[in-house]
Amino acid sequence: MEIDVVTLFPGWFDWFREQRHVANALESGNRLRALDLREHTPLGAGQVDDTPFGGGAGMVLRVDVMDAALRGFYGVDPVELPRQRRVIALTPGGRVLDEQLVSELAAEPALTLLCGRYEGFDERIVQHFCSDAVSIGRYVLAGGELAAMVVCDAVMRKLPGALGHADSAEEESFSAALEGDPEYPHYTRPAEYRGWTVPEVLLSGHHEEIRRWRRARSRERGAAADGPPLS
Ligand code: ADE
Repeated sequence: MEIDVVTLFPGWFDWFREQRHVANALESGNRLRALDLREHTPLGAGQVDDTPFGGGAGMVLRVDVMDAALRGFYGVDPVELPRQRRVIALTPGGRVLDEQLVSELAAEPALTLLCGRYEGFDERIVQHFCSDAVSIGRYVLAGGELAAMVVCDAVMRKLPGALGHADSAEEESFSAALEGDPEYPHYTRPAEYRGWTVPEVLLSGHHEEIRRWRRARSRERGAAADGPPLS
């Protein structure tokens, strides 16, 4: 898979690229590029944004700047781009990211993630250059970079070779194996710590009972409206 992130802060992704599962995915032949939105700006002094028509606080990323950037990176008119790859604007009002969307994106051959800053994008960027608008939650970040990293993190850990153990992503929260429920609680050594014990069944060695216990705990968590308080 090929992921491009268009950002005013490409350097932020240097750290991200070094994280284990990301590095594993990259070593397995996947690609993650951070492309500098300023690189192709047609305006003087690296300008990329402007004040909003109609007034109001903040600055808005300009459509002509995004047009030039995408044209420069891909060599096509960016209105054609969504036919070639998923082009995703990261914005608080977009489709909220969940495991289903992550799986959908992980199955794509190529993604382009556009990071907004300030008040966000001129709406014509989203309308004409993007296939999707995605939010990582109903709160406002200072920009789309962290949201892009969240998307990349969740997508890249699904790619073959990203996780150390082949089964690690099999029976995890929201997977088909758990029928969309969150994962059951885990415990490891010591079996008792400060008087806090591990559920007896997990120490029993009875695989079928353990499986049933885990499934039940997972369902309980799924049924709880806001999920469990501590994980
Ligand atoms: N940009 C700013 N806030 C965001 C959010 N919550 N999700 C995606 N992109 C954003």
